[in-house]
Amino acid sequence: MAAWIQAPKGTKDILPKDSENWRLIEDIMRDEAAIHGFQEIRTPVFERTELFERSVGDTTDVVQKEMYTFLDKGNRSISLRPEGTAGAVRALLENALLNEGIPQKLYYLISCYRYENTQEGRQREFHQFGCEAFGTEKPIADAEIIALAHGIFERLGIRGLSLEINSIGCPQCRSKYHETLRTFLEESKEALCHTCLERLDKNPMRILDCKTPSCGEITKDAPIMKDYLCNDCAEHFFAVQSYLDAADIPYKVNTRIVRGLDYYTRTVFEFISGDLGAQSTVCGGGRYDGLVKQMGGAQTPALGFAMGMERLLLVMKAQQIQLPQPAVCRLYIASLGKAAQMKGFALSNMLHHAAIKAECDICDRSLKAQMKYADKIGAMFTLVLGDNELQQNKAELKYMRTGETMPITLGNDFLTEFLAAITQAESLALGSQS
Ligand code: HAM
Repeated sequence: MAAWIQAPKGTKDILPKDSENWRLIEDIMRDEAAIHGFQEIRTPVFERTELFERSVGDTTDVVQKEMYTFLDKGNRSISLRPEGTAGAVRALLENALLNEGIPQKLYYLISCYRYENTQEGRQREFHQFGCEAFGTEKPIADAEIIALAHGIFERLGIRGLSLEINSIGCPQCRSKYHETLRTFLEESKEALCHTCLERLDKNPMRILDCKTPSCGEITKDAPIMKDYLCNDCAEHFFAVQSYLDAADIPYKVNTRIVRGLDYYTRTVFEFISGDLGAQSTVCGGGRYDGLVKQMGGAQTPALGFAMGMERLLLVMKAQQIQLPQPAVCRLYIASLGKAAQMKGFALSNMLHHAAIKAECDICDRSLKAQMKYADKIGAMFTLVLGDNELQQNKAELKYMRTGETMPITLGNDFLTEFLAAITQAESLALGSQS
């Protein structure tokens, strides 16, 4: 197949056989967010590049190496969004949402773009469900946002995710920690990988996150942020844990969770799965108390998370989690001839108005081919319309599971009689189950 007709590297089509699962998962996410008082925000797929440089951070891999950046026809530098937080904060400020009161609680379901080396669970176009809450620095808000993510995993039936939390402090205590860590790392500087050498100056804490074995060896005994938290940050972190305990949400403190984006302060967390390979983080988030101000707004504490849809689906597949199947087609109307096809169209339309899933022939196919299709889509009932049926204004409804037939009129009572047939069939099915 010619290259131009293949999806670009790192992207995937979501086909009908999978899209129903996506929709079901998204419905649960939307519902859980709504239960917690979050409202949806939709922001552009692309923003000015500067927005991401100033928020996600110009020392991060995402901004330095992974953004899809181009000049538009007006010579502006534009980037496809690599994540959702920056756009949400920009929209919050531009539309003065904070004037509507606090907390502002937003969620989004978006596609994101990162030019990464692709592997299972790591794509160049991927999808995130994210939540962001603005206007509270209280530790209960941290626990609440973690509980939201946790609630989604529970509702999806996902087992065995490990919630790992850490505090990376505020700019004051972190800068003291950075100094100590830098001094510690300077001693074995020559063994650091190229990327970590670059990080040493600007963001040494990110070195703790490096997967290169030599860096891991060096940082094994490195000082940890937890020991350098100021009183306020330590108290905050302790309180977050107390709220998680109160909500019976299991977690462990992992002092190596530092996150890969620059805006974080205080609490950071990840949900990690043992069912994924190297890309084991299904969900990541934390506080970013300085970002709104840094982007030109008033000092506004904030926090959030995002979970990767593709990784979530991989975990669900590994755990063989079945979601409820979509409603089957209740009726397939087969027809012979133009007049019968017209009648079939009118009757299926009548069912659609009553929100009943029904189909009729739209391909002018033979009766045999139509019945084969009805079988393939698993229609609950079929109805065959021909000249006879039209003349008598009556037809035989066939219940496909048992082959039983029952008469049905094709006039005004069609809907009522069809609903009665469904009820009868469902009670028969229930009877045969018990
Ligand atoms: P992140 O850790 O960069 O955080 O991404 C969040 C999640 O998106 C990851 O845990 C992962 O499941 C998924 N993800 C990231 N990159 C890829 C990829 N290349 N392919 C597939 N899935 C991927 C953020 O994006 C922050 N904005 C989260 C946040 C919101 N923090 C506060 N508010």
